[in-house]
Amino acid sequence: MVIDNIGLLVTNEAEGELSNAWMIIEDAHVVDTGTGSAPDADRRIDAEQRCVIPGFVDSHTHLVFAGDRSAEFAARMGGEPYEAGGIRTTVHATRAASLESLRGLATARLAEAHRAGITTIEVKSGYGLTTEHEIASLQVARSLTDEVTFLGAHVVPDEYAGRADDYVRLVSGAMLEAAVPYASWIDVFCERGAFDEEQSRTVLEAGRAAGLGLRLHANQLGPGHGVQLAVDMGCASADHCTFLSNEDIDALAGSSTVATFLPATEFSTKQPYPDVRRVLDAGARVAISTNCNPGSSYTTSMSLCIALAVREMGLTIIEALRAATLGGAAALRREDVGWLGAGSRADLVILDAPSYDYLVYRPGVPQIASTIIGGVPV
Ligand code: NIG
Repeated sequence: MVIDNIGLLVTNEAEGELSNAWMIIEDAHVVDTGTGSAPDADRRIDAEQRCVIPGFVDSHTHLVFAGDRSAEFAARMGGEPYEAGGIRTTVHATRAASLESLRGLATARLAEAHRAGITTIEVKSGYGLTTEHEIASLQVARSLTDEVTFLGAHVVPDEYAGRADDYVRLVSGAMLEAAVPYASWIDVFCERGAFDEEQSRTVLEAGRAAGLGLRLHANQLGPGHGVQLAVDMGCASADHCTFLSNEDIDALAGSSTVATFLPATEFSTKQPYPDVRRVLDAGARVAISTNCNPGSSYTTSMSLCIALAVREMGLTIIEALRAATLGGAAALRREDVGWLGAGSRADLVILDAPSYDYLVYRPGVPQIASTIIGGVPV
Protein backbone atom coordinates (compact mmCIF):
# COMPACT_ATOMS: atom_id res chain seq x y z
CA MET A 1 0.00 0.00 0.00
CA VAL A 2 1.13 3.56 -0.61
CA ILE A 3 0.05 6.71 1.20
CA ASP A 4 0.88 9.57 -1.13
CA ASN A 5 0.25 13.26 -1.58
CA ILE A 6 1.32 13.85 2.05
CA GLY A 7 1.75 17.61 2.51
CA LEU A 8 4.00 17.20 5.54
CA LEU A 9 5.31 13.92 6.95
CA VAL A 10 6.73 13.89 10.47
CA THR A 11 9.03 10.89 10.73
CA ASN A 12 10.79 11.54 14.07
CA GLU A 13 13.92 10.30 12.30
CA ALA A 14 17.03 12.40 11.79
CA GLU A 15 15.56 14.26 8.79
CA GLY A 16 12.51 15.15 10.92
CA GLU A 17 9.97 16.32 8.36
CA LEU A 18 9.42 15.65 4.66
CA SER A 19 7.29 17.83 2.36
CA ASN A 20 5.27 16.35 -0.53
CA ALA A 21 5.99 12.89 0.75
CA TRP A 22 4.86 9.29 0.32
CA MET A 23 5.12 6.14 2.38
CA ILE A 24 5.09 2.47 1.36
CA ILE A 25 3.53 -0.01 3.80
CA GLU A 26 3.81 -3.80 3.71
CA ASP A 27 2.84 -6.37 6.35
CA ALA A 28 1.93 -3.76 8.97
CA HIS A 29 5.30 -2.01 8.64
CA VAL A 30 6.72 0.97 6.80
CA VAL A 31 9.03 -0.17 4.04
CA ASP A 32 10.12 3.16 2.62
CA THR A 33 9.40 6.88 2.58
CA GLY A 34 10.34 9.56 0.07
CA THR A 35 9.34 12.77 -1.63
CA GLY A 36 7.96 13.60 -5.08
CA SER A 37 6.02 11.07 -7.14
CA ALA A 38 5.21 7.89 -5.30
CA PRO A 39 6.06 4.37 -6.49
CA ASP A 40 3.17 2.18 -7.72
CA ALA A 41 1.36 -0.03 -5.22
CA ASP A 42 -1.70 -2.32 -5.07
CA ARG A 43 -3.61 0.09 -2.85
CA ARG A 44 -3.38 3.84 -2.43
CA ILE A 45 -4.51 6.33 0.20
CA ASP A 46 -4.47 9.96 -0.92
CA ALA A 47 -3.52 12.18 2.03
CA GLU A 48 -4.76 15.22 0.10
CA GLN A 49 -1.76 17.37 1.12
CA ARG A 50 -2.55 16.92 4.81
CA CYS A 51 -0.02 16.29 7.57
CA VAL A 52 0.88 12.73 8.62
CA ILE A 53 2.40 12.06 12.05
CA PRO A 54 3.38 8.90 13.96
CA GLY A 55 0.44 7.56 15.97
CA PHE A 56 0.35 8.72 19.57
CA VAL A 57 1.88 6.34 22.12
CA ASP A 58 -0.11 6.65 25.32
CA SER A 59 2.06 5.04 27.99
CA HIS A 60 -0.17 5.74 31.02
CA THR A 61 -3.91 4.93 31.22
CA HIS A 62 -6.36 3.33 33.64
CA LEU A 63 -9.05 2.35 31.09
CA VAL A 64 -10.59 -0.52 33.06
CA PHE A 65 -13.14 0.84 35.53
CA ALA A 66 -16.84 1.24 36.22
CA GLY A 67 -18.77 4.03 37.93
CA ASP A 68 -18.93 7.79 37.68
CA ARG A 69 -16.97 10.48 39.54
CA SER A 70 -18.17 13.55 37.71
CA ALA A 71 -19.59 14.99 40.95
CA GLU A 72 -16.13 14.73 42.54
CA PHE A 73 -14.70 16.58 39.53
CA ALA A 74 -17.36 19.28 39.73
CA ALA A 75 -16.66 19.75 43.46
CA ARG A 76 -12.98 20.16 42.65
CA MET A 77 -13.75 22.83 40.11
CA GLY A 78 -15.58 24.52 43.01
CA GLY A 79 -12.45 24.45 45.17
CA GLU A 80 -12.25 20.98 46.77
CA PRO A 81 -8.76 19.36 46.67
CA TYR A 82 -7.93 16.16 44.76
CA GLU A 83 -7.25 13.22 47.10
CA ALA A 84 -5.91 9.73 46.42
CA GLY A 85 -8.82 8.32 48.46
CA GLY A 86 -11.25 8.93 45.58
CA ILE A 87 -9.78 5.80 43.99
CA ARG A 88 -11.78 3.71 46.48
CA THR A 89 -15.06 5.04 45.02
CA THR A 90 -14.09 3.53 41.67
CA VAL A 91 -12.94 0.33 43.38
CA HIS A 92 -16.45 -0.21 44.80
CA ALA A 93 -18.07 0.33 41.39
CA THR A 94 -15.52 -1.82 39.55
CA ARG A 95 -15.89 -4.74 41.96
CA ALA A 96 -19.67 -4.59 41.49
CA ALA A 97 -19.47 -4.68 37.68
CA SER A 98 -19.64 -7.90 35.65
CA LEU A 99 -16.69 -8.93 33.50
CA GLU A 100 -18.78 -8.30 30.35
CA SER A 101 -19.76 -4.82 31.40
CA LEU A 102 -16.15 -3.94 32.34
CA ARG A 103 -15.02 -5.25 28.98
CA GLY A 104 -17.69 -3.22 27.17
CA LEU A 105 -16.77 -0.01 28.99
CA ALA A 106 -13.06 -0.42 28.41
CA THR A 107 -13.51 -1.39 24.75
CA ALA A 108 -15.55 1.76 24.13
CA ARG A 109 -12.80 3.84 25.74
CA LEU A 110 -10.21 2.15 23.53
CA ALA A 111 -12.27 3.03 20.43
CA GLU A 112 -12.40 6.62 21.68
CA ALA A 113 -8.58 6.57 22.11
CA HIS A 114 -8.18 5.31 18.53
CA ARG A 115 -10.38 8.13 17.25
CA ALA A 116 -8.09 10.51 19.16
CA GLY A 117 -5.06 9.19 17.23
CA ILE A 118 -3.66 6.84 19.88
CA THR A 119 -2.16 3.76 18.22
CA THR A 120 -0.25 2.19 21.14
CA ILE A 121 -1.74 2.22 24.61
CA GLU A 122 -0.69 1.03 28.04
CA VAL A 123 -3.55 -0.05 30.32
CA LYS A 124 -3.28 -0.58 34.09
CA SER A 125 -5.36 -2.58 36.53
CA GLY A 126 -5.76 -1.01 39.97
CA TYR A 127 -9.48 -0.62 40.62
CA GLY A 128 -10.04 -4.22 41.73
CA LEU A 129 -7.60 -4.63 44.63
CA THR A 130 -8.55 -8.23 45.42
CA THR A 131 -6.82 -11.03 43.53
CA GLU A 132 -10.10 -11.94 41.83
CA HIS A 133 -10.96 -8.38 40.77
CA GLU A 134 -7.42 -7.44 39.75
CA ILE A 135 -7.23 -10.52 37.53
CA ALA A 136 -10.57 -9.63 35.94
CA SER A 137 -9.24 -6.13 35.20
CA LEU A 138 -6.01 -7.54 33.80
CA GLN A 139 -7.93 -9.93 31.55
CA VAL A 140 -9.93 -7.01 30.18
CA ALA A 141 -6.75 -4.94 29.74
CA ARG A 142 -5.09 -7.85 27.96
CA SER A 143 -7.96 -7.99 25.47
CA LEU A 144 -7.21 -4.35 24.57
CA THR A 145 -3.41 -4.18 24.40
CA ASP A 146 -0.09 -5.98 24.92
CA GLU A 147 1.11 -3.16 27.21
CA VAL A 148 -0.62 -4.29 30.41
CA THR A 149 0.44 -3.08 33.86
CA PHE A 150 -0.39 -4.70 37.19
CA LEU A 151 -1.24 -1.92 39.66
CA GLY A 152 -2.47 -3.90 42.66
CA ALA A 153 -0.60 -1.29 44.74
CA HIS A 154 -2.86 1.58 43.68
CA VAL A 155 -4.24 2.28 47.14
CA VAL A 156 -4.79 0.22 50.31
CA PRO A 157 -8.37 -1.12 50.05
CA ASP A 158 -10.85 -0.55 52.89
CA GLU A 159 -10.68 -4.13 54.15
CA TYR A 160 -6.94 -3.65 54.82
CA ALA A 161 -7.32 -0.28 56.59
CA GLY A 162 -4.56 -0.01 59.22
CA ARG A 163 -2.87 -3.12 57.78
CA ALA A 164 -1.05 -1.68 54.77
CA ASP A 165 1.93 -4.00 55.18
CA ASP A 166 -0.35 -7.05 55.03
CA TYR A 167 -1.78 -5.71 51.78
CA VAL A 168 1.74 -5.11 50.41
CA ARG A 169 2.52 -8.76 51.23
CA LEU A 170 -0.55 -9.88 49.27
CA VAL A 171 0.26 -7.66 46.29
CA SER A 172 3.88 -8.84 46.20
CA GLY A 173 2.91 -12.47 46.78
CA ALA A 174 -0.23 -14.33 45.73
CA MET A 175 -1.79 -11.45 43.78
CA LEU A 176 1.39 -10.85 41.80
CA GLU A 177 1.72 -14.55 41.02
CA ALA A 178 -1.82 -14.58 39.62
CA ALA A 179 -1.21 -11.35 37.68
CA VAL A 180 2.02 -12.34 35.93
CA PRO A 181 0.41 -14.28 33.05
CA TYR A 182 -1.52 -11.17 31.98
CA ALA A 183 0.92 -8.32 32.63
CA SER A 184 4.28 -7.17 31.33
CA TRP A 185 4.67 -4.25 33.76
CA ILE A 186 4.23 -3.53 37.47
CA ASP A 187 3.46 -0.10 38.91
CA VAL A 188 2.93 1.40 42.39
CA PHE A 189 1.27 4.65 43.48
CA CYS A 190 4.13 5.95 45.66
CA GLU A 191 2.50 8.84 47.51
CA ARG A 192 1.21 10.03 50.85
CA GLY A 193 -2.20 8.35 51.21
CA ALA A 194 -1.10 5.40 49.06
CA PHE A 195 2.26 3.56 49.46
CA ASP A 196 5.47 4.86 51.05
CA GLU A 197 8.95 4.46 49.61
CA GLU A 198 9.75 1.23 51.40
CA GLN A 199 6.43 -0.41 50.50
CA SER A 200 6.83 0.75 46.89
CA ARG A 201 10.34 -0.72 46.73
CA THR A 202 9.06 -4.03 48.12
CA VAL A 203 6.38 -4.28 45.42
CA LEU A 204 8.74 -3.25 42.60
CA GLU A 205 11.38 -5.74 43.72
CA ALA A 206 8.81 -8.54 43.77
CA GLY A 207 7.60 -7.54 40.31
CA ARG A 208 11.13 -7.51 38.95
CA ALA A 209 11.82 -10.94 40.45
CA ALA A 210 8.66 -12.18 38.70
CA GLY A 211 9.97 -10.90 35.36
CA LEU A 212 7.89 -7.72 34.99
CA GLY A 213 9.17 -4.34 33.80
CA LEU A 214 8.96 -1.49 36.31
CA ARG A 215 7.10 1.85 36.27
CA LEU A 216 6.12 4.16 39.13
CA HIS A 217 3.53 6.84 39.96
CA ALA A 218 5.90 9.42 41.45
CA ASN A 219 5.67 12.90 42.97
CA GLN A 220 2.05 13.49 41.93
CA LEU A 221 0.54 15.13 45.00
CA GLY A 222 3.65 16.59 46.57
CA PRO A 223 7.44 16.38 46.71
CA GLY A 224 8.70 12.94 47.70
CA HIS A 225 11.08 10.05 47.13
CA GLY A 226 9.21 8.54 44.17
CA VAL A 227 11.27 9.91 41.31
CA GLN A 228 14.57 8.97 42.91
CA LEU A 229 13.22 5.53 43.76
CA ALA A 230 12.15 5.07 40.13
CA VAL A 231 15.62 6.00 38.91
CA ASP A 232 17.31 3.88 41.56
CA MET A 233 15.22 0.84 40.59
CA GLY A 234 15.78 1.39 36.85
CA CYS A 235 12.08 1.94 36.15
CA ALA A 236 11.25 2.49 32.48
CA SER A 237 9.22 5.50 33.54
CA ALA A 238 8.49 7.81 36.47
CA ASP A 239 4.95 9.07 35.89
CA HIS A 240 3.32 12.37 36.92
CA CYS A 241 6.48 14.21 38.14
CA THR A 242 4.31 17.17 39.15
CA PHE A 243 6.61 18.17 42.03
CA LEU A 244 10.29 17.94 41.06
CA SER A 245 13.33 19.05 43.07
CA ASN A 246 16.68 19.86 41.44
CA GLU A 247 17.93 16.49 42.71
CA ASP A 248 14.98 14.72 41.04
CA ILE A 249 15.77 16.42 37.73
CA ASP A 250 19.48 15.57 38.01
CA ALA A 251 18.61 11.96 38.79
CA LEU A 252 16.28 11.72 35.76
CA ALA A 253 18.85 13.38 33.48
CA GLY A 254 21.52 10.86 34.41
CA SER A 255 19.28 7.84 33.90
CA SER A 256 17.36 5.81 31.36
CA THR A 257 14.11 6.45 33.26
CA VAL A 258 11.68 8.50 31.17
CA ALA A 259 9.87 11.37 32.94
CA THR A 260 6.25 10.96 31.88
CA PHE A 261 4.09 14.05 32.25
CA LEU A 262 0.30 13.97 32.37
CA PRO A 263 -0.87 17.52 31.63
CA ALA A 264 -4.60 16.74 31.66
CA THR A 265 -4.17 15.63 35.28
CA GLU A 266 -2.97 19.06 36.37
CA PHE A 267 -5.87 20.50 34.37
CA SER A 268 -8.41 18.21 36.06
CA THR A 269 -7.03 18.44 39.58
CA LYS A 270 -6.07 22.12 39.53
CA GLN A 271 -2.54 21.29 40.56
CA PRO A 272 0.41 23.36 39.36
CA TYR A 273 1.85 22.44 35.95
CA PRO A 274 5.45 21.17 36.26
CA ASP A 275 8.21 22.94 34.33
CA VAL A 276 8.97 20.34 31.67
CA ARG A 277 11.26 22.78 29.86
CA ARG A 278 13.73 22.50 32.75
CA VAL A 279 13.59 18.72 32.67
CA LEU A 280 14.18 18.59 28.92
CA ASP A 281 16.99 21.15 29.09
CA ALA A 282 18.66 19.09 31.82
CA GLY A 283 18.88 16.23 29.31
CA ALA A 284 16.17 13.86 30.57
CA ARG A 285 13.88 11.88 28.25
CA VAL A 286 10.27 13.07 28.48
CA ALA A 287 6.91 11.60 27.50
CA ILE A 288 3.37 12.95 27.55
CA SER A 289 0.40 10.68 28.21
CA THR A 290 -3.31 11.08 28.82
CA ASN A 291 -3.63 9.21 32.18
CA CYS A 292 -7.22 8.44 31.17
CA ASN A 293 -8.98 7.53 34.44
CA PRO A 294 -12.24 8.53 36.14
CA GLY A 295 -10.68 10.48 39.00
CA SER A 296 -7.84 12.73 37.95
CA SER A 297 -7.96 12.88 34.13
CA TYR A 298 -10.98 11.57 32.24
CA THR A 299 -9.76 12.18 28.72
CA THR A 300 -8.32 10.26 25.78
CA SER A 301 -7.39 13.49 24.00
CA MET A 302 -3.65 13.45 23.41
CA SER A 303 -4.20 16.64 21.39
CA LEU A 304 -5.40 18.38 24.57
CA CYS A 305 -2.36 17.04 26.44
CA ILE A 306 -0.03 18.36 23.73
CA ALA A 307 -1.74 21.75 23.78
CA LEU A 308 -1.42 21.96 27.59
CA ALA A 309 2.23 20.87 27.47
CA VAL A 310 2.93 23.69 25.03
CA ARG A 311 0.82 26.36 26.71
CA GLU A 312 1.56 25.51 30.35
CA MET A 313 4.72 23.41 30.54
CA GLY A 314 7.14 25.24 28.28
CA LEU A 315 7.51 22.85 25.34
CA THR A 316 7.52 23.84 21.68
CA ILE A 317 4.88 22.16 19.53
CA ILE A 318 7.32 19.75 17.91
CA GLU A 319 8.84 18.86 21.31
CA ALA A 320 5.38 18.10 22.66
CA LEU A 321 4.50 16.01 19.60
CA ARG A 322 7.74 14.03 20.00
CA ALA A 323 7.01 13.50 23.70
CA ALA A 324 3.57 12.11 22.79
CA THR A 325 5.01 9.70 20.21
CA LEU A 326 8.71 8.85 20.55
CA GLY A 327 8.68 9.74 24.27
CA GLY A 328 5.78 7.38 24.99
CA ALA A 329 7.56 4.66 23.04
CA ALA A 330 10.70 5.14 25.18
CA ALA A 331 8.57 4.99 28.32
CA LEU A 332 7.36 1.57 27.14
CA ARG A 333 10.86 0.61 25.96
CA ARG A 334 9.49 0.14 22.44
CA GLU A 335 11.64 0.81 19.39
CA ASP A 336 9.10 -0.11 16.72
CA VAL A 337 6.60 2.70 17.36
CA GLY A 338 6.67 6.49 17.78
CA TRP A 339 8.46 7.09 14.46
CA LEU A 340 7.85 6.45 10.77
CA GLY A 341 10.54 5.04 8.52
CA ALA A 342 11.83 1.78 7.05
CA GLY A 343 11.27 -0.87 9.72
CA SER A 344 8.84 1.00 11.97
CA ARG A 345 5.30 -0.20 12.51
CA ALA A 346 2.80 1.47 10.19
CA ASP A 347 1.01 3.20 13.08
CA LEU A 348 0.14 6.72 12.00
CA VAL A 349 -2.36 9.52 11.95
CA ILE A 350 -3.52 11.59 9.01
CA LEU A 351 -4.40 14.97 10.46
CA ASP A 352 -7.26 17.04 9.15
CA ALA A 353 -4.74 19.87 8.82
CA PRO A 354 -1.70 20.89 6.78
CA SER A 355 0.60 20.85 9.82
CA TYR A 356 0.88 19.47 13.36
CA ASP A 357 0.83 23.06 14.66
CA TYR A 358 -2.95 22.78 14.30
CA LEU A 359 -3.05 20.37 17.26
CA VAL A 360 -2.37 23.42 19.43
CA TYR A 361 -3.43 26.25 17.12
CA ARG A 362 -7.04 24.92 17.05
CA PRO A 363 -7.58 23.88 20.69
CA GLY A 364 -10.62 21.74 21.29
CA VAL A 365 -11.29 21.19 17.58
CA PRO A 366 -10.72 17.55 16.52
CA GLN A 367 -7.81 17.37 14.05
CA ILE A 368 -7.61 13.59 13.55
CA ALA A 369 -8.85 12.62 10.07
CA SER A 370 -7.76 8.98 10.17
CA THR A 371 -5.93 6.64 12.55
CA ILE A 372 -4.02 3.79 10.90
CA ILE A 373 -2.72 0.88 12.99
CA GLY A 374 -0.46 -1.70 11.38
CA GLY A 375 -1.35 -0.23 7.99
CA VAL A 376 -5.10 -0.64 8.61
CA PRO A 377 -7.44 2.34 9.09
CA VAL A 378 -9.40 1.86 12.35
O1 NIG B 1 -2.67 8.33 37.86
N1 NIG B 1 -2.55 8.48 40.94
C1 NIG B 1 -3.08 7.43 40.91
N2 NIG B 1 -3.90 6.95 39.97
C2 NIG B 1 -4.61 7.80 39.05
C3 NIG B 1 -5.77 8.46 39.68
C4 NIG B 1 -6.81 7.53 39.97
C5 NIG B 1 -8.09 8.07 40.51
O2 NIG B 1 -8.21 9.17 41.09
O3 NIG B 1 -9.02 7.28 40.32
C6 NIG B 1 -3.65 8.80 38.45
O4 NIG B 1 -3.87 10.02 38.52
